[in-house]
Amino acid sequence: MASSTLICDTQPWKDLKAHLEDVKKTHLRDLMNDTDRCKSMMLEFDGLFLDYSRQCATADTIEKLLTLAEAARLKHKITSMFSGERINTTENRPVLHVALRASRDAVIECDGTNVVPDVWQVLDKIREFSERVRSGAWVGVTGKPLKDVVAIGIGGSFLGPLFVHTALQTDPEASECAAGRQLRFLANVDPIDVAKNITGLNPETTLVVVVSKAFTTAETMLNARTLREWISSSLGPEAVAKHMVAVSTNLTLVEKFGIDPENAFAFWDWVGGRYSVCSAVGVLPLSLQYGFPVVEKFLKGASSMDQHFNSTPFEKNIPVLMGLLSVWNVSFLGYPARAILPYSQALEKFAPHIQQVSMESNGKGVSIEGLPLPFEAGEIDFGEPGTNGQHSFYQLIHQGRIIPCDFIGVVKSQQPVYLKGEVVSNHDELMSNFFAQPDALAYGKTPKQLLSENVAQNLISHKTFSGNRPSLSLLLPSLTAYNIGQLLAIYEHRIAVEGFIWGINSFDQWGVELGKSLASQVRKQLHASRKKDPVEGFNFSTTTMLTKYLEASADVPSEPSSTHIPKM
Ligand code: F6P
Repeated sequence: MASSTLICDTQPWKDLKAHLEDVKKTHLRDLMNDTDRCKSMMLEFDGLFLDYSRQCATADTIEKLLTLAEAARLKHKITSMFSGERINTTENRPVLHVALRASRDAVIECDGTNVVPDVWQVLDKIREFSERVRSGAWVGVTGKPLKDVVAIGIGGSFLGPLFVHTALQTDPEASECAAGRQLRFLANVDPIDVAKNITGLNPETTLVVVVSKAFTTAETMLNARTLREWISSSLGPEAVAKHMVAVSTNLTLVEKFGIDPENAFAFWDWVGGRYSVCSAVGVLPLSLQYGFPVVEKFLKGASSMDQHFNSTPFEKNIPVLMGLLSVWNVSFLGYPARAILPYSQALEKFAPHIQQVSMESNGKGVSIEGLPLPFEAGEIDFGEPGTNGQHSFYQLIHQGRIIPCDFIGVVKSQQPVYLKGEVVSNHDELMSNFFAQPDALAYGKTPKQLLSENVAQNLISHKTFSGNRPSLSLLLPSLTAYNIGQLLAIYEHRIAVEGFIWGINSFDQWGVELGKSLASQVRKQLHASRKKDPVEGFNFSTTTMLTKYLEASADVPSEPSSTHIPKM
């Protein structure tokens, strides 16, 4: 395929479009009876088990998707990513988050230089610093050990670390390592988030980690200035050196802010924000909370999946197959959304993280060459842990719109409970739902079945389930730091595969810029209008709203009146 040809103009894409008519004649109820088909749609790797037999797909579909992968030069694109080529062309950057979890002796080159030693230099610095803080060798300005950490950051500098932290919190090994410590995340520029996060904390025993790739992000910098004020108003300005550290690619701005560059942890332009959880962005706060050895296991899990992704033939490659199936669902079957449904409360922040990884990566309207796409790329990701989701939005998934679902289950619970007199353990109860829901979606329930159950005639249509609703099931052996790393890398790579097939740039995010620049115009106006200047330069709607807002909050002081930071 010539580099300027859109994937939808290739023969394999057209073949899949034609093949759609065959698939439309099938129903999962029948497809699931074909044991050979089902067997061929199951995969195991490093303790993980993937079953994609409940996709609306036949063996022929998979073959055609693999041919599409060839047309999209998927292998070449994956190799280019791993070898540090500047595949993020609009920002002229390599995409090397896999180097963040490479083993110490690996060689991954960027512009002819092996980046792995730099990665390990920062990891070693984190190990040493986090051990000093955790052991009490590093103390605050009043001599007290720092037992609580507030990580300030937003987007990729927040969601990935929050997901991993939430997943580790209930892991027995990790939670033992975190005894007596707290890790909190301050993301929203809303002062309510500040109040929530500092309530109950003592600045004397708190370390603030400012996490920002650019170190210019408006929300993060205002929150950082707010917590700097919180610390210095109570402990004096000299306390900042002991109570604030930073993670950034921009060490010059870190120093300007007043944080000692010695206490800054670097990462690199070749790490995208939403792919940065394995850099100091995630590793520093998580190591402060759980200790570096636990976090190292998380990195190893991700690295194992990187190697699988880079070296396994596509027909046995978990992220590749999951990515191809998503393309099939979005671009051919026309299902624009995807539900991420982990049957584990520990994974409650997984869907919000994947939302950013997926939607910021693949929510694009042009090809990597800048040509408008004549098809929709990206999908709408959402999710909740089962069984909470079942009592919320599953109604729509079962009888309303068709939403391909990812069911994620765990064999061994982090926190098993089995009460005397109960039929099954609490985890088996949870997992009963994990096994039941995909079949309910695939098989549905026919009017004939309902009639045989003597359902009243007037309720037959209401109680009918059409079935034929696709899902895949991913079973993890447990939810250790290692497994959490595996899961993260599966989704990162699956999303990259989708982008590689669609022929878009999954590693830039120009779509977030326009809103930011308009907000800065509004900020200037609010400043001026608090000093009584009229609202000017906006459309009628925005002018009216702004005027109403200003009038109704006229009692707000036009100058900063105190350094008091509210707590709850
Ligand atoms: O929302 C846009 C974005 O640039 C994300 O891509 C990024 O994760 C987030 O802002 C935070 O950026 P930074 O780490 O530079 O503060």
